Amino acid sequence: MTLVREIKSGVFWVGAIDWDRRLFDALIPLPSGTSYNSYLIRGSEKTALIDAVDETKADVLMDNLRTLNVKDLDYIIVQHAEQDHSGGLKRLLKEYPSAKVIGSARCLDLLASFGLAEKDSLLEAKDGEKISLGNRSLQFISAPWVHWPDTIFTYLPEEHILFTCDFLGSHLATSSLFASDEAAVSSSARVYYAEIMMPFRSSVARHIERIEGLAVEIIAPSHGPIYDRPAFILDLYRDWSSDKVKNQVVLAYVSMHGSTRIMADYLVDALVSRGVEVRRFDLTNYDLGEFAGALVDAATVVIGTPTILAGAHPLAIYAATLARALRPKARYASIIGSFGWGGKMLEQITEALSGLNLQFFDPVVARGLPKEADLLALDRLAEEIAASHRKLD
Ligand SMILES: Cc1cc2nc3c(=O)[nH]c(=O)nc-3n(C[C@H](O)[C@H](O)[C@H](O)COP(=O)(O)O)c2cc1C
Ligand SMILES: [Fe+2]
Ligand SMILES: [Fe+2]
Repeated sequence: MTLVREIKSGVFWVGAIDWDRRLFDALIPLPSGTSYNSYLIRGSEKTALIDAVDETKADVLMDNLRTLNVKDLDYIIVQHAEQDHSGGLKRLLKEYPSAKVIGSARCLDLLASFGLAEKDSLLEAKDGEKISLGNRSLQFISAPWVHWPDTIFTYLPEEHILFTCDFLGSHLATSSLFASDEAAVSSSARVYYAEIMMPFRSSVARHIERIEGLAVEIIAPSHGPIYDRPAFILDLYRDWSSDKVKNQVVLAYVSMHGSTRIMADYLVDALVSRGVEVRRFDLTNYDLGEFAGALVDAATVVIGTPTILAGAHPLAIYAATLARALRPKARYASIIGSFGWGGKMLEQITEALSGLNLQFFDPVVARGLPKEADLLALDRLAEEIAASHRKLD
């Protein structure tokens, strides 16, 4: 069996759904699997393939092309060199040795360095350049830094379809070709945005603007379902990448013997009773994707950690380091926690969160179990956070 689906006459989805994959980049959980979308476009004279699936699914792509009776492939467009979209290239070139591989200069360089293609067999796609397939054409749009320096989008003007590779995608294995269940796709796309696109917020906004200048009726990313209502995903990206933050605190804590947990719980209640929404994460048992997703528009990040071996708990350092790498737009931060005799817990968390332009509220650190004075300090912290959130535009 193979699965091939026609999007418009002569434009086919020929990718692979990875129902079982549960981890991406050895980091990102995939609770709903993912898909590696690949698209075949038939013109009156030439045939092009966009993106080449993960190597583990190369067989599926080859079978799909056989199902469509593709004897010759003129162009293989590699929109991005990461192996989840280029891993199938070697197999493709074996089957279609005369196909020309097209990508940005950076992409071609990376493909060669990954051993996926010989450099001199590749054609560079410059921004705005077009190739003709006869009655159809493909135009390349340089779109670097969503999320690698090499990305291009491909525009099919005759059908008003824009292919965007990782951009606007979602890690979602689904039988729906189109994003018909917008609620499900929106929550999946949000986590995906947080994990992959959020560190590149300014590029995201620039590319969204560029897309607005094109007549686009269908957006076809290389992960997750296709959008036949482009405004749905473009509006979400516009909101997520804007400077607007919400009246929300992300509170990520870890506790060995319960002191920091009591403080975390107290702070949650103190914030909620002041009208602040809280996303609370116990770092011994949390979902990295949900944590990243919560960081998309929270105004404040609070890390809670005991002192262990003269510093912060490694799980807290990990969460703070991850938050810094994802570059959320949060404006405020604080640290709470507990200690026995001393150490550099505050310095380590402050350092791990550095470079994010955060305004830090005074930390609250208890010796052992929190006492009355510590709880009062947590009330003061909640008050400061709530007051700052009330002033948000
Ligand atoms: C394995 C271990 C190592 C610790 N190392 C330190 C330390 O280096 N400095 C310190 O001030 N307290 C240290 N402590 C004491 C804890 O910070 C203290 O008990 C604190 O109240 C624990 O908070 P919790 O109940 O939230 O885990 C250590 C505790 C444990 C269990
Ligand atoms: Fe990628
Ligand atoms: Fe990807």
